Order: sequence, then C-alpha cells, then structure tokens
Amino acid sequence: MPTRPATTTVTAPWEPWWTGAVGYQVYLRSFADSDGDGIGDLEGLRRRLDHIAGLGVDYLWITPFYPSPQADHGYDVADYTDVDPAYGNLATFDRVVARAHRLGLRVVVDVVPNHSSDRHPWFLDATSSRDAAHRDHYVWRDPAPDGGPPNNWVSKFGGPAWTWHEATGQYYMHTFLAQQPDLNWANPAVHAAFEAILTFWLERGVDGFRIDTAHLLTEDPSFRDNPVLHEVAPGADAETVYHAFDHRHDLDQPDVLAIYRRWRELVAPYGALLLGEVGLFEPEPVGRYVADGALDLAFYFPALKVGWDAGAIRDELAAALAAGGDRLAWPLSSHDDPRATQRFGGGERGAARALAYLTVLVGLPGNAFLLQGDELGVDGTALTTADPERLGAHGVAGHDVAGRDVSRTPMPWDGQTNFGFTSGTPWLAFPDDTSLQDTVAGQEHGRSQLRRTRALLAERARLPDLRGDEELEWLEGPDALLAYRRGRTLIAMNTGRTYQPIPGGRDARARFVSTGEVRRDGDDLLAPPDAAVIAELRG
Ligand code: GLC
Repeated sequence: MPTRPATTTVTAPWEPWWTGAVGYQVYLRSFADSDGDGIGDLEGLRRRLDHIAGLGVDYLWITPFYPSPQADHGYDVADYTDVDPAYGNLATFDRVVARAHRLGLRVVVDVVPNHSSDRHPWFLDATSSRDAAHRDHYVWRDPAPDGGPPNNWVSKFGGPAWTWHEATGQYYMHTFLAQQPDLNWANPAVHAAFEAILTFWLERGVDGFRIDTAHLLTEDPSFRDNPVLHEVAPGADAETVYHAFDHRHDLDQPDVLAIYRRWRELVAPYGALLLGEVGLFEPEPVGRYVADGALDLAFYFPALKVGWDAGAIRDELAAALAAGGDRLAWPLSSHDDPRATQRFGGGERGAARALAYLTVLVGLPGNAFLLQGDELGVDGTALTTADPERLGAHGVAGHDVAGRDVSRTPMPWDGQTNFGFTSGTPWLAFPDDTSLQDTVAGQEHGRSQLRRTRALLAERARLPDLRGDEELEWLEGPDALLAYRRGRTLIAMNTGRTYQPIPGGRDARARFVSTGEVRRDGDDLLAPPDAAVIAELRG
C-alpha cells in the first residue's frame, strides 16, 4: 500500500500541498553510498532522510535512478519503471518513500519524456527495421538531397541533432547525446506509454514529478531549418553553437502544453505535483507552461545567470513573477550549473551571499529549491581550478569543465573516510580543500551555514505571509538593496559593501539576519553587507 506523508503543512486544507513549499534536490549519485561502490544509492538516501527533514524543507526531488547505461548520469533511461541495480531496487525505493512520508516529507521523482536511452528496448526494436513495432516511437527522417542530415538542428551537447543509422538508411534525432534518441510525441503510442509510466509511480506513492526538459518534447511537424542568428567561429563550443540559432522549430512548440493538461488530469486524483524543467530564458514563455491547467510549477532558471547585484536580481525576479505568478520554482543551484556559492564569488563570502539570496527566494511566492550541499555552502570553485582531467572523464562532450561536475561533488557528511559519503572510492572526488568544517557533522555547532539555513526555514514556517497567496510589493530603496514586502513581512538583501537602510524598516523588527547583525541609525533599520534580513512590521 502506498503511504501518504504525515502532514506538517500549515497551508489551508484546500490548497495543494506545494503552495509556498520549499524543495530539496537529491542528486542521488552524490548523496550517500550505502554499499561502498562509490556511487550514492537509495538505501544511502533512506538512512540520511532525517537530515533533509531536519532542514525544514517540505519535499525532495530525486534525480533519475532508473536502469541506465549512465551516458548522461541517468538522464538516459533504459527502463522507466524499474531501479538501476547500482541504486537499489523497487523495494528500496518503497522504503525511501515510506520513511520520507513518516518524516512528513513528500517525494517527487524525475520523469524523462523527451528522450530515452539508445539501450531502451523501444529503441533496440526501432533500429531493427523500418517496419518495427516501435519505429515510430522515435524521430526518423530521410537524409537531405546531399545525403547529409535532414535539417540544420544541432544537439545541445555538440554536433548535429541527427545521427545516421546505416542499417535502416535514415537519421534519428537527438537533442542531447546520440545515446539519447528523442521520443516522437507526434505518436499517440508514446503518450499512452508515458501515461502508464506516471500511473506506475503514482500507485507506488510518489507525490509528483519533475519533468525533464519539459519544453523540448514536440517539434515543428515540417522539420524546417532553424534561422541562424549569427555565425560562429569554427571550433566554437557546443553551447555557443546552440545559441547561434533561433530555436523556433525544435523547442517550445504550442502543442506541448496539451500533453501537460492531460497529465494534470491524470495526476490530480493523487494530489500530485507536476514541476517542469522549462529551460527557456524569457519570462513570458515560461509563464505559458503554468497557465491554464498545464504544469503546477515551472523552474525559473534565468536567475541562475545573474551575479551579485541587487538591481539585476530584482529585475530578473520581478519579470519572472509578472509572467509566472506564484507558480514558479526558484533554484538556488542546480546540478547543471555552478552553485550559488561559486556564482557569488566562492568561499565564505560566496556562501554568505548564497544564504542571503536563499532568504529572498524563500520569501517569494512559489517554491524555493535547494540543491543538496547548498545548506553547507558547498563550493565547486576549487574543483574548477583542479586537474581538468579529473572532471573531463565525467563531463559531457562539449561542456567545459566548469559546466556541470562542479555542482555534483559528493555530500560531505562527517569526519570519516571520504567524509562519510562512501567507504569505497567516490565516483567524483571532493574538492581538494574540503575539511571537517564543510561537513554536516562539522556544522552542527556555532554559526554555520547549516544552522543558519535551518533557522531561515524555521522562520519561514512561522510566517504565514510567506506561505499563502499574500501579494508581493517591491519597495524602492538604495541601489545596493533589493526589498519587498508581503503582508506584514519585509525581506531585504544588501549586495553592497556597506550597511544599507531598509525601506519601511523604521516600523519593523528584525526576525532573521542571514549573516552579521542589523543596526539602527536613528530610526532606520540597516541591513549588513552580503546579507538578507527578514523583518516584521509592527503594530
Ligand atoms: C536536463 C537535466 C540534465 C540532462 C538533460 C538531458 O537538463 O537536468 O542533467 O543532461 O536534461 O536529459
């Protein structure tokens, strides 16, 4: 029997459970290893669930644990309804869900509908002949008249988005690696297959889905060339080449939303969440994915590109809120990008700024999201400058070393071998400068990032203004200060080098300061540099 979480939510009973919630991303491979093979697994996660519950988050999202050749660390799925033996089995998965629910945590799993692994039985069958039963599960096209790829679409990971299949004389499409063939969402059988997959996991008791590359599923039916925006130099990296095109024909097609409307109906009786990875960089198109009964929430990534600048952060967040309202999820970090700590300058200062930024995200309508290790101030900076060979082995073709592994280093738990992550050799080394101070055990005392993160989330739980549908009002203040108000709660973040007065702070009492101390100057309430303040209006 699927379990249901022991509910800890303070939202009204008619609100969905994710209203005003905070999520936590478990990058499973790097979380906790129970069997010494150097790779995190489900049993390791189960044993560490208390840590997640103790932070004060509401739910976790577990990255793919399905059988996979691991060409893209599980985002190449060979069986959508089983567990890779490296991560455990279905019984271990059930135990994770049961324990999480007992702790009051909901569990969201990753679904990867844009592509499968080239080892998936569907693709193996599809490549056996043009008449194969699953041929149309994938996107096949005849060559262009010159024998080359059918159009100019490129893979996000480098090279054309097409690979020639000699035996059957056609090209197949892949937005990512050639080992990740795109599924054909123009085929109703693919819709039916995924509805069965979602139902399988819902019946096992999951509380929702994070939908991988939710904007990529469908393509322009006539497969026209994408317009070229600008020429690129020969040898340019994959990302530069990808962004040299206007992707109007290979992503964000209008028919994709119908898929999520259908899924919405399917998950609704289970009270489950649909959270999309919508990797678009303009607010308005992201907003469309959460309008009219499509996705419940969409991740908003553009803010991950913004540096430590109050004005730029405010502009980005305000534009997103205008388009997506309370239906966006705000990642502090992601497993595909450098972490907030690194983005904001690295080291202690980077960690302090990341906590300040998390304070801002926690107060916004929608869901703030941490990546495992953010609560410790984990920082990939040292790794970026370390031996590039070490990273190169795990990077994906076309991504430079700073690209992805920097945010995927193993969780440092305690002072044991390999910081308690594994008794074997970790699949990815810890940054060379990792010390006991960086671990969960080492941060149980004093003014650590861990204890401050817990204090922040506890504060948010006490402030109903931050959890319901209270309107957000931006407040005008000094350039280095971002400030907003929701109900009687003020949140301000200071990106400057000196103390800054908080607008409205005269009538407010500080409840939480991310780092440092607030000051008074006359009646003014001053926010310390590199910090954020939560204050409550008096009276
Ligand atoms: C998403 C994942 C990323 C993966 C890609 C292809 O962007 O977050 O890690 O490589 O999809 O599945």
